[in-house]
Amino acid sequence: MAGKESARQREQAGMSDPRGILVTEMSRRGASPVLVGRAAEMAALETAFETVRQGSPAALLIGGEAGVGKTRLIAEFAVRARSAGARVLTGGCLELGADGLPYGPFTAMLRDLVREIGADEIVGMLPGSSRATRELARLLPELAGSAPDGLADADGALARVATAGEERARLFEEFLTLLERLAAQRPLVLVVEDAHWADRSSRDLIAFLIGYQRSLHNVLIAVTFRSDELHRTHPLRALLAELARIDWVERTELPRLSRGQAEELAAAVIGHPADRGLTDELYERAEGNPLFTEELLACPDGCAGIPDSLADLLQQAVRRLPEDTQEVLRVASAGSGSIGHALLAKVAGHSEEELIAVIRPAVTANVLVTTADGYAFRHALIREAVHEDLLPGEHSQVHTRFALAIDADPALVSGGRADIERAHHWYSAHNTSAALASAWQASAQACRAGAHAERLMLLARVLELWDQVPDAAELIGADHVRVLEEAIATARDLGEDQRGLALAESALAELDEAADPVRTALLLRQRHAFHRHLGGRRQDMADLHRALRLVPETVSRQARTQLLLAAAHCGYDREGPEFRGWAEEALRLAREDGDPEAEAQALANLSMIEAGPGALAAAGSEPLRLIAEAKAIAERGGTYDPIRRLVIFESHLLCGAGEYERAAAVARAGSTEAERHGLARTAGAFLAINEAEPLLYLGRWDEALDVADRALDLAPPPLTRAGLWIISGLIALERGDLAGAARRVAAARTVLAGTGYDDQYHLPFALLEVQLSLAADGPDAAVAMATDALNRYDVARSSARYVWPLLVHAAAAAREASGDEAAALLDRLRTLAEKLDVFGPVQRAWQVSYAAIDPPPAAGDHGLSDADAAVAAWEALQQPHPAAVALAHAAQVALAGATGATGASGPAGRAEAAARLRRATSIADRLGATPLSEHIAGLARRAGDSDDDSAARTAAERLGLTGREFEVLRLVAAGQSNRDIAATLFISPKTASVHVSNILGKLGTATRTEAAAKAHALHLLDGT
Ligand SMILES: Nc1ncnc2c1ncn2[C@@H]1O[C@H](COP(=O)(O)OP(=O)(O)O)[C@@H](O)[C@H]1O
Ligand SMILES: [Mg+2]
Repeated sequence: MAGKESARQREQAGMSDPRGILVTEMSRRGASPVLVGRAAEMAALETAFETVRQGSPAALLIGGEAGVGKTRLIAEFAVRARSAGARVLTGGCLELGADGLPYGPFTAMLRDLVREIGADEIVGMLPGSSRATRELARLLPELAGSAPDGLADADGALARVATAGEERARLFEEFLTLLERLAAQRPLVLVVEDAHWADRSSRDLIAFLIGYQRSLHNVLIAVTFRSDELHRTHPLRALLAELARIDWVERTELPRLSRGQAEELAAAVIGHPADRGLTDELYERAEGNPLFTEELLACPDGCAGIPDSLADLLQQAVRRLPEDTQEVLRVASAGSGSIGHALLAKVAGHSEEELIAVIRPAVTANVLVTTADGYAFRHALIREAVHEDLLPGEHSQVHTRFALAIDADPALVSGGRADIERAHHWYSAHNTSAALASAWQASAQACRAGAHAERLMLLARVLELWDQVPDAAELIGADHVRVLEEAIATARDLGEDQRGLALAESALAELDEAADPVRTALLLRQRHAFHRHLGGRRQDMADLHRALRLVPETVSRQARTQLLLAAAHCGYDREGPEFRGWAEEALRLAREDGDPEAEAQALANLSMIEAGPGALAAAGSEPLRLIAEAKAIAERGGTYDPIRRLVIFESHLLCGAGEYERAAAVARAGSTEAERHGLARTAGAFLAINEAEPLLYLGRWDEALDVADRALDLAPPPLTRAGLWIISGLIALERGDLAGAARRVAAARTVLAGTGYDDQYHLPFALLEVQLSLAADGPDAAVAMATDALNRYDVARSSARYVWPLLVHAAAAAREASGDEAAALLDRLRTLAEKLDVFGPVQRAWQVSYAAIDPPPAAGDHGLSDADAAVAAWEALQQPHPAAVALAHAAQVALAGATGATGASGPAGRAEAAARLRRATSIADRLGATPLSEHIAGLARRAGDSDDDSAARTAAERLGLTGREFEVLRLVAAGQSNRDIAATLFISPKTASVHVSNILGKLGTATRTEAAAKAHALHLLDGT
């Protein structure tokens, strides 16, 4: 630690001193002291700033050609924002050939922030222990704070098992949390400059921050870029297009100055109005580009002998400087962004003291500006112009000098950029051996920084240079296949399946499976995984079979364990005895080798295989026992990843079995734990789906909404959001908020359209769509929607768990509709329902509901008893809403019997209907299911129930009984116990007993029997 501090002190001592001298002397040659024009753009920035201060999101994308004034506009705005109390963090993207610095602009912001408030304060803003800063410390090692080794080792077990995607999620999450905390103090303006040079990781983070800005209050985001550099395949284009679809994002293009404005600029620069001849010439030459206008004005001879090209123009200012200063500038032009004083001295071959004297004229002439850690060219175009001035030989030479200087002393480059800068300089120096070796080394650093895209790019460079370097393998201590293997793993982390597949194919082609069975087998496993991602879930197992044959236990126990786990995992969505065999073998090996993570995973596999195709498990069952065992083992072994997965399984299996309370509790606890591990937005939000879903079924809609909304506020990944929107959409719909439901449907549709079919998302979504179109546009529309869903999705091969609800609701819609399409749909549904699996009580309840809605024509008339069977099934599951729907349906059946020829006779049928409707009303009212309540009220009028009932209700009201107490009294009179009442009304037995004692009090009776007798005597129960 002491070593680290002194290095930093040395670095600062070496730089701040000379810069201090230069800064005080700096006179800004040739720049306008006032901002010319730009009123509209400034107003747009200020409006956006006001918007975020009012609590809404706002982001601005500002394009424009080089030198048009993007940086100046932002800088002027920053001054105003700061004086209005805001903090402004700016980060620029640098042109570094093909290797963008991962997270470059964000690293720069963090570095400034550390300078402003100190690393400790930043660390203090992040929740939790030292672990919390681990991800941000990937960007800026200073943030590892007092525990520099913690970067690699703190919570090492967690780091090992977390997937790359999770690491990135955590990094993004930490960054977002930091911004939230900063913005809680005062408004925050985040500026990313020159995004056309942004590396992919930075682009992803920009998209993340802007996309989820709704959860980021009080933060304005501005992004600038050179619009003239965006050729057709430029990677920024896709990002801009994506961002443009977001409501709160505004894109503006900064135009050149008008003729009048250019004159104004000229006057401001030279201190008095320019004469006509000069302004004409200026405008003709610079065409309103402020940078060129300034440069032209800086020509000492008043613009006579104007150079031919703009590059020449920009070089002019440099050529007027002393020769040794020019030499340093040429050297500096090969560096990137801001260059430290000591590094520049070293590369330019001066002592640090000498450099001050040599560089001063460049700063005075405003060719270079001083930055927090050194010098930068005033404008990137000036750097480019100077760089073009280098002769080809000089070019490689200067890059070589940079590379050698950094090789000798990596501390000359701050903030963990040494490896990537070396790689850049060696590559630009055309030194193939050193370029290959340094790219390999930088790829390891990129891996630590969580910059997978950059890592893949560097590995691709190693592969590209391989044939030009005779002893490449010895040089880096790894063979060609090893590099391929690293690239394959990185492609997998990035989700680049197609590329990964191609890399895996070439690695397999190079390997001799007899000589290298383990590597071959592991590559086969990767190839299987790529195929699986590309080709959907059910992929052929040939690669894994071959891999397992290649690696018996005697060859490598560890590799075999991994292969077995991968193979057993495929047993989740298909059946076969071999899956269990593989899981059991993996379990045995893991136990013998004392590997808790593998052991927990093997048990997890076994539990899913044990649960079988129904994917459900009741409390006390074998799958849940296996899960509990696996959790205990993972906990003892201190490994979180299996726990995360186990909790997801457990809540999923319980929910499938209808054990909703438990399912919700398990998911709840799992979210809390995910949060502790810094995975609130990913695993935590995913578990919110598993918590909200059972709450939805239990009729605890407000709680379900609360869980879903809180998770959505965390801005989770798209598919998770879709899952949450589906749940809250269903509740909105049942409560009659059609607009709210439609909004969620639209949002979820966009996400799901972009992903492959997955029954657990697409079928519930289809269900929601069908119900929404029924409510909004009527039965014919719902029939069309359902037909469309059946055509689109492979329903026959989907899990029965998700198919049943869709069948039942589609059938209900088809029954309400008339016409050929409805009849055809019903036929299809019936065929599907006959063949569909039925696992466990929930699926049974759906099956019974289906039979009640669409009884087989030949089955004779069981109308009312079928309908009542559905009611009973839902009541047994404690699912109030479908129970109320089933009650309403039963009432309808009873009424049909009352008017028709079959079933219960007239008055008896009406009484049957009325009794069911009363129960249904009380449930629907309690849920706030307004459309259902209205539907029931309509039926009740038909049942003629309302008159009798209202007379009785009035009598009850006179006694001071509430509506709910009146309901309870009827049930007491019917001889129900507190437990029965609780079950019927979906309240707790305790609440039921409170109602009963209130009733006894109000009626002045001592026992339930007395109360029932008195109720009869007072005609309270007439019409029942
Ligand atoms: N509206 C303006 N008023 C005065 N000077 C300007 C204006 N726009 C740009 N400049 C000057 O022109 C030069 C180039 O502008 P800059 O903001 O760096 O361009 P960009 O970031 O778009 O490449 C700078 O010296 C800047 O101060
Ligand atoms: Mg700029």
